[in-house]
Amino acid sequence: MSDSVSKLALHGGSPVREAPLPARGHIGSEEKEAISAYVDKVLATGTLGAYQGEEEEAYCAAFAEQLGGGYADAVSSGSAAVYVALLALELEAFSEVIIGPFTDPGGMMPIPLQSMIPMIADSAPDSYNTGPEQVEELLSPRTSAIIVPHIAGEPADIGGIMELAGRHGIPVIEDCAQAHGARYKGQLAGSFGDLSAFSTMSGKHHSSGGQGGMVFTRDEALYQSVRRMADRGKPHFLPEGATNMQATLNFNQTDLAAAVGLVQLRKLPGMVERRRAIVGQLIEGTADLEMIAMRQTGPEIESSYWFLQVAFYPERAACDKETFCESLRAEGLPVTDDYRYGMPHRQSWYTERRVFGSSGYPWASPLYKGDPNRGFPCPNAQAMLRSHFTFSLHENWSTREIDDVIAIFQKVTSAYRAG
Ligand SMILES: Cc1ncc(COP(=O)(O)O)c(C=O)c1O
Repeated sequence: MSDSVSKLALHGGSPVREAPLPARGHIGSEEKEAISAYVDKVLATGTLGAYQGEEEEAYCAAFAEQLGGGYADAVSSGSAAVYVALLALELEAFSEVIIGPFTDPGGMMPIPLQSMIPMIADSAPDSYNTGPEQVEELLSPRTSAIIVPHIAGEPADIGGIMELAGRHGIPVIEDCAQAHGARYKGQLAGSFGDLSAFSTMSGKHHSSGGQGGMVFTRDEALYQSVRRMADRGKPHFLPEGATNMQATLNFNQTDLAAAVGLVQLRKLPGMVERRRAIVGQLIEGTADLEMIAMRQTGPEIESSYWFLQVAFYPERAACDKETFCESLRAEGLPVTDDYRYGMPHRQSWYTERRVFGSSGYPWASPLYKGDPNRGFPCPNAQAMLRSHFTFSLHENWSTREIDDVIAIFQKVTSAYRAG
């Protein structure tokens, strides 16, 4: 073992960073004040309004304005946002919905839960995001919608996908759970699709408290449909006398959560700017390390960095990626060997078709006219898993954290220099 390898914390040396990286601390006195004001109002009026009150209205209006105008409805989670957006399109059961390979399971499960078939498009080369070519390969007369997750805060080629979808008259849902504040050719992610879905759970760029989500659209009729689908199919905006018009659930967000969300939303541009600045410094500080490359985007693709992707070049290293990642963790940087959620279509709920009991539906239904056993090998996505690792960062890292992370990469790369 060389001297520098034996000095790694992995082998008993002292780590670059003894203390864990600091907690995010993104909820502060302004959020506390908003919660207090809400509770004061409830106490003063003796009424717990619960949802669709002035807090939610203000939050949704501000959210829509930030996306350049349109309509937003606050819901209970990002998964609920995808579910509601899909339902709002009133698609046919046993049609096919194309979706990128990397997403949270909650971003994909709404498709079979609505008796439609998820068609897993590969990612574009060197990306976690799917692209127009990969989507086009899966188009069929059965395609009813396309869901485009923007992974890690990096926008997909949404311009190309919108152009393709437009030619075929297929609606697009952008899944922006990880991409608040990201921009494609200067325009905010979430403002391209027919609908877009956001998660606002606590780990996301901006949060409405512990859990939450948002559905956005510029189309008034779709917005009205969203409102109905998020609220047990209640006949919102329908003529007097109409009854609940669709079986769905109650996905409403509470006014209390919305009060927090509004405060957080105001902080979002600053959070994103700070994340970009931090990543800029990390890229600069590690630019001469040939073994790795931190993800660089822009100017057309502006990531809002929910997490950072790092390419690892094994041919330039005297270790494999797993050992390299283990060494980084031992020095104090919690990295994930590949993508943190994996691919939902590799998970047992999908491979064992566990959606509606043991029926195998929707795939097994005679009403589905495609190939129920079609595989989705996704070679580009697999290559991404092999070639990259990832780590989380947040806007409250100080110079100390940035310097430590750079020092960790310097120490580990110098220990494993090839040759
Ligand atoms: C791409 C994507 N879609 C959907 C979701 C689901 O959001 P939630 O956890 O708020 O249900 C997530 C959650 O991380 C996500 O990353």
